[in-house]
Amino acid sequence: NVPAPVNETILGYAPGSKERELLKEALADSRSKVIDIPMYIGGEEVYTEQKGKITPPHDHQHLLANYSKGNKNHVSMAIDAALAAKADWENLAWEHRAAIFLKAADLIAGPYRYKLNAATMLGQSKNAYQAEIDSACELIDFLRFNVEYMSQIYKQQPPVSPRGSWNRLEQRPLEGFVFALTPFNFTAIAGNLPTSAAMMGNVVVWKPANTQIFAANVLMQIFREAGLPDGVINLVYVSGPDAGDVIFSHPDFAGIHFTGSTGVFQDIWKTIGNNIHKFKTYPRIVGETGGKDFILIHGSANPEVSSTAIIRGAFEYQGQKCSAASRVYIAKSVWPEIKKFMLRDLATFKMGGTEDFSNFINAVIDEKSFNSLAKYIDAAKTDKGVEIIAGGNYDNSKGYFIEPTVLVVDDPKYTTMCEELFGPVLTVFVYDDKDFDKTLNIIDSTSIYALTGAVIGQDRYALEKATHRLRNAAGNFYINDKCTGAVVGQQPFGGARGSGTNDKAGSMINLLRWVSPRTIKETF
Ligand code: NAD
Ligand code: ALA
Repeated sequence: NVPAPVNETILGYAPGSKERELLKEALADSRSKVIDIPMYIGGEEVYTEQKGKITPPHDHQHLLANYSKGNKNHVSMAIDAALAAKADWENLAWEHRAAIFLKAADLIAGPYRYKLNAATMLGQSKNAYQAEIDSACELIDFLRFNVEYMSQIYKQQPPVSPRGSWNRLEQRPLEGFVFALTPFNFTAIAGNLPTSAAMMGNVVVWKPANTQIFAANVLMQIFREAGLPDGVINLVYVSGPDAGDVIFSHPDFAGIHFTGSTGVFQDIWKTIGNNIHKFKTYPRIVGETGGKDFILIHGSANPEVSSTAIIRGAFEYQGQKCSAASRVYIAKSVWPEIKKFMLRDLATFKMGGTEDFSNFINAVIDEKSFNSLAKYIDAAKTDKGVEIIAGGNYDNSKGYFIEPTVLVVDDPKYTTMCEELFGPVLTVFVYDDKDFDKTLNIIDSTSIYALTGAVIGQDRYALEKATHRLRNAAGNFYINDKCTGAVVGQQPFGGARGSGTNDKAGSMINLLRWVSPRTIKETF
């Protein structure tokens, strides 16, 4: 048996604590030098002449690192290295593969915790708590729980064998290589996508978002130190289209493990479809994509509890969680009280760099995101039927800062109620208490997404009705909680409709996508 997984304890980083001191040291160390980040192909550190710059989103003039940019040749080299490593890796007993990922989890929980958290805080502008629940706890949990699910898959009950025969089920890795394409917003997801496929005996080419490379580099160092053999996971920094051109026309392309925006995933799916005749096998397509996540407040809800759920759901990590609340429907009878609590708490929020632990709000990820959010806010300032009750300011002179902004709209189908903004902009629609059923229909039909959602209230009939009616509106549904913060092993995560293939990250469902079973019947 593998060691039974237990969720990693969240460190509090309280003033005066040892962990706070160690994290501060790691932050200072990372800020005090400019490092050169290589790609990792077949165990080699690959440096190129062409460099990309890494700066903290909250301090965009401070250079943290230069990373080596690759091209299509590097993608081909990564595929060759992966295929060269394949036979040894897939024939290694699963317990030995498992041990590598368990050791990686221990390294993150121990000596690398502060370095990895600091890299996430600086590179992706997360505060200490957000980094701790992501690059430490969630990633450690992914690794440990996935090893448990992996062991269950390999120890599955065999098929029935009538006398005179022996039926067996062999869990083979996919025939070819897997492409892991990862987003900026969670270091845990960047770590999970390549490792979950690799755990099941696959070899991987991994391309992170450019804005996550600072932490991805630390992750790769951890995997190597944990004993990951050369070529099993190859990390390249190339443009998405360059990677796609090489990978989606390669005969050995066997699957993609993607997390990112819906548009990019749909384009990738189309390309794979157009090239389907080129592949030896039908590729596995696993993608977790965008969201337009909601919170529904019933008239029976406790106003202060509702306000806290809304604020945390909408504004932690600047609203850049795929699960973040971005549209809220509030019953008229409780709105004045909820508004009072929201404005009270928002007024206490400090915004600034991640190095100052008293800042709740940090910067959004980059200039493109900043400009897009500023545009939505500007439109809201002049559009009819929209009132900005909090925030509405932005400033990119030092970092990409957007104030936590709350819009109240007359039209439940106003643009910001439908589109994924991916930032600290929340839209509220206040409904008449008697229109609860109508509001359920509006929630279900307003967006193309179905990732997370929540209902808050004390009326059990209303909770039941919302749970039933919104069955297809969210892959992760919360009753009397915010809609963020799924924990590995407790709430398997993923959405349907425009939010993804719902192969639940950190679950056996997901790991089963990375094997292709063979049935063997032997007759005596
Ligand atoms: P993104 O789609 O911009 O990028 C994701 C990855 O795809 C990156 O590595 C990027 O470099 C690459 N990419 C971009 N264009 C490409 C192209 N044309 N061809 C090939 N690769 C390409 O997403 P992001 O901005 O990094 O992340 C935010 C998005 O991810 C949001 O939409 C969010 O909702 C979603 N997300 C979803 C989940 C989930 O579990 N459903 C989790 C996290 C993030
Ligand atoms: N675990 C993250 C959340 O649910 C994705 O917010």
